[in-house]
Amino acid sequence: MAQIGYSEKVMEHFMNPRNVGTIENPDGYGKVGNPVCGDVMEMFISVEDDTISDIKFRTFGCGSAIATSSMVTELAKGKHIDEAMEITRKDVADELDGLPPRKMHCSNLAADALHGAIEDYKSKKVGK
Ligand code: FES
Repeated sequence: MAQIGYSEKVMEHFMNPRNVGTIENPDGYGKVGNPVCGDVMEMFISVEDDTISDIKFRTFGCGSAIATSSMVTELAKGKHIDEAMEITRKDVADELDGLPPRKMHCSNLAADALHGAIEDYKSKKVGK
């Protein structure tokens, strides 16, 4: 039986998540809750010349949330904030070779928290 519907990439990111942790005094911070399950995701970014130079996440989410966040941080790192803003949950799920349909809601957290952190960075910049 194939492992209960998870791709090898999902399992790999779940077992070895990238960029876990926090950034002290981040340039942008996003926090979202998942209305479906109540889990929470936090995303921290450092930005240089409008490019994401560092990114970390912390979550009280399930394995799919961990795998999608890990992937989102890999996709976003080194990208211009406008490009990173265009990363969708579908991009993340595609990069992970798909998620089981009932777990798609988990991938909202990662993309939404990233977008929240970018919005936070932009609003701080305007205020400067
Ligand atoms: Fe809550 Fe997946 S079940 S994020």
